Amino acid sequence: MSAIALLAEQFDRALIAAFGADFAGTDPLLAATNNPKFGDYQANLAMSLAKPLKQKPRDIATQIIAALDVSDLCEPPEIAGPGFINLRLKTSYLEAQLQQMLTDDRLGIAPVQDPQTIVVDFSSPNIAKEMHVGHLRSTIIGDAIARVLEFQGHNVLRLNHVGDWGTQFGMLITYLREVYPDALTKADALDIGDLVTFYKQAKVRFDDDEAFKEASRQAVVGLQTGDAEARQAWQLLCDQSRREFQKIYDQLDIQLEERGESFYNDALASVVRDLDILGLLQEDDGAQCVFLDGYTNKNGDPLPLIVQKTNGGYNYATTDLAALRYRITTDRADRIIYIVDVGQSSHFEHVFQVARRAGWLTDEVEAQHVPFGLVQGEDGKKLKTRAGDTVRLRDLLDEAIDRAKADIEQRLASEDRSEPADFIDHVATVVGLSSVKYADLSQNRTSNYIFSYDKMLAMQGNTAPYLLYAYVRIAGIGRKSGIDFNDFSSAINTVVTLSDHTELVLAKHLLGLEDAIEAVAIELLPNRLCQYLFELSQKFNQFYDQCSILQAKEPQRSARLQLCYLTAQTLRQGLSLLGINVLKRM
Ligand code: ARG
Repeated sequence: MSAIALLAEQFDRALIAAFGADFAGTDPLLAATNNPKFGDYQANLAMSLAKPLKQKPRDIATQIIAALDVSDLCEPPEIAGPGFINLRLKTSYLEAQLQQMLTDDRLGIAPVQDPQTIVVDFSSPNIAKEMHVGHLRSTIIGDAIARVLEFQGHNVLRLNHVGDWGTQFGMLITYLREVYPDALTKADALDIGDLVTFYKQAKVRFDDDEAFKEASRQAVVGLQTGDAEARQAWQLLCDQSRREFQKIYDQLDIQLEERGESFYNDALASVVRDLDILGLLQEDDGAQCVFLDGYTNKNGDPLPLIVQKTNGGYNYATTDLAALRYRITTDRADRIIYIVDVGQSSHFEHVFQVARRAGWLTDEVEAQHVPFGLVQGEDGKKLKTRAGDTVRLRDLLDEAIDRAKADIEQRLASEDRSEPADFIDHVATVVGLSSVKYADLSQNRTSNYIFSYDKMLAMQGNTAPYLLYAYVRIAGIGRKSGIDFNDFSSAINTVVTLSDHTELVLAKHLLGLEDAIEAVAIELLPNRLCQYLFELSQKFNQFYDQCSILQAKEPQRSARLQLCYLTAQTLRQGLSLLGINVLKRM
């Protein structure tokens, strides 16, 4: 358990002992102080208890301290100002914690006691349409959140809610029949090239030709009624898209289970029927809908959520209702997380409200839309290529790798170093892809962010290269020390000791990984973990600047190597939760 959690527990006991059971569960609001003058944590509960207890905050603080048993963890607590309680962790406590961390694969972080089943719905691009930067954000953020929850020991379902159904398939199937008449009889997988271009061409035919339009409508009906040939054509188009998406997932090392919109086809009619039985359904202009509580249109009239269109077809909302119900009743999810751009916030509010009123979504299940902002070009506008086209994801990732490669070559030249080509390629790939991921994750996801290769690839600042370099530096120390860092904990038997100020600062930070992970799990903000790792690298660098390591005398040399090792492990673990691999050299 982290120091802060232990302290909270002790405060709870002290409050009950000093003021009675009514005060159980009072949050001591333990803020980590950044000012060494105030110790490591500051509790401010004495002030908020002044009113209910009708006593002066300082007197309350005195009574709390008298009942507080934290002597294993802290130096004697001090009262400051109007009634703050300042706490300073004991060096002996820090040393003992680090010692434990040394021999634990999970760095002292126990899995959660009650694992939940958690659906993370992320990435979710649309068949035959561009997988755009918005989907890239969803993919990167969703993967990081899933990794964190998995590390905590939850059962995570990583679901790709691919847009693989809808009227556009009528047009695509008709065009496929037109340009590849023998596509369905050929045994080999069809290569129709770039599906996005294919889509555009089909659209032109659709808009220009009435007969084509009619054939498309027929194809939609065929698809919906299970016509074998239409199904096969649809499958072919999906496979083609899937292969393209998979290249991106492979490149970014993303695991996803595809469960597209079509998966819920058979459940759509019953969603509408059940809403009807529950008395929630109303007809509006020929469409079946549920009028939403608390939402009105421009004229102040209640806003409908349409679940069946006038022509009998179902839509995005119907599918999401079916998916939500399936995830609750069949997957038995305790928590359902949707990583989707902020533009869809009202869609999710509406769907959740209807599911709640239908009794499908109960208080036992937490459904959360996790929104994120736009990716902008350096001009602050929507990201575009120089020619003004939308940026293809593969090009974007390739360019990051190319630029990383150019940077590395330049750096090697300036250091008069030569390395084999496969080394350079490997480093460029890791640095390029990590930089794209980290640039995205290190932002508060709710804000828009400006996509800048120069910024994300910089060796200084809160960037992937800066963190990767901190790891490389430690790996180098490991090599020079003659100790195998892969088998470190058995190689060193010295007791951890901390003396220099920078060692203490680093040690305290090392023990904060659990809190950072927990913050991500609760708030679903991966930037909290990025910030933690960035500060860890900075604190390591300060320690490195201040303390000699390899030249130090034993047992200090070993003790410092232990700090290096723990920093490396923490960086590696933390970065892996962000989907980033470390490098031993770069
Ligand atoms: N395919 C959708 C889009 O590209 C995202 C789907 C998100 N997930 C969901 N359950 N609605 O906008």
